[in-house]
Amino acid sequence: MQKTITVSAPGKLLLLGEHSVVYGYPCLVTSVNQRLYLTATLIPDDELQLEAPDVKINGYKKLYKDLGTGEIPKGARFIEHGLANFLRKYPFQGGVRIETKSDFSSQYGFGSSSASTVCLIKAISELNGIHLSKSELFEISYHTLLDVAGKGSGFDIAAAIYGGVLYYVTPGKVIEPIEVTDLSLVVGYTGIKVDTVQVVNEVAQLKTEKPELVHSQFETITTLVEKAKIALIQKNWSEFGRFMNVNQEALDRLGVSSAKLDAMVTAARGAGAFGAKLSGAGRGDCMIALVSSEKKNVVCEAVNAVGGQVIPIQTNVAGVNIEI
Ligand code: PMV
Repeated sequence: MQKTITVSAPGKLLLLGEHSVVYGYPCLVTSVNQRLYLTATLIPDDELQLEAPDVKINGYKKLYKDLGTGEIPKGARFIEHGLANFLRKYPFQGGVRIETKSDFSSQYGFGSSSASTVCLIKAISELNGIHLSKSELFEISYHTLLDVAGKGSGFDIAAAIYGGVLYYVTPGKVIEPIEVTDLSLVVGYTGIKVDTVQVVNEVAQLKTEKPELVHSQFETITTLVEKAKIALIQKNWSEFGRFMNVNQEALDRLGVSSAKLDAMVTAARGAGAFGAKLSGAGRGDCMIALVSSEKKNVVCEAVNAVGGQVIPIQTNVAGVNIEI
């Protein structure tokens, strides 16, 4: 039996539809070429061993019987709960040593936790001779996300598994790959790490206080996601950029933009981007701008000039993959 396997999964960026996607409305997401790598090795003792230096986990050990209990450091939660969930469904003898390494910082909001969860389930299932379907891999991984974070739409899990560009409705009710090439984005990092669940909770609070305001923004976002999906297929970049701008306005009305994000959005548009918006929960993390190849450099410079850290990425890459 194979003892070791290395698996990788891509990070993601939300193109359109953040926040409303939590409430069952659709979103568009792209995978990005910055990947997370996970090596799983079967070991004799019934325990989890974890090395994840990118999230400050070194020499972490937990007996199988204690998985999911006690104080679990933040960087170990998804792996520990993911393993517990897998074992409940597919118990196996002996333990597992997990090592993770990421191309990208967990601060960017590219979805390192979801990518590591997907890699874990894929790796340990393959080591045990179980070839999970994409939908079963999604189910176990999404369950793990809910166990750890309490809420979340699961679009990031879908992106890590399927790759490409997806039209997604929670909880994996629709996962539709969109055929698209040349989707060229400039990504500007704010330098601020955001707690997604906290921002999601704040939007939930606003929804309770001002239901009409929130509902009308969600409706606007849904209409533009549907139209943007068609623009994407037709490669109508100016239309898609316009929808990004409208989405940004709606997110601003939901109170999730920030001065830094606004500055980058304005700079990118001023330098000739087709459109620009925050991507993800908001408040911090990243801004994305849709650009032509001619404008890419000048947009990067403009984002840089207002203090954004430009992160080079490519969109629309392969989903979870067995490396060796
Ligand atoms: O913070 P991110 O990049 O993982 O994105 C969060 C997107 C939300 O719609 C706000 C939450 C979710 O789970 O979909």
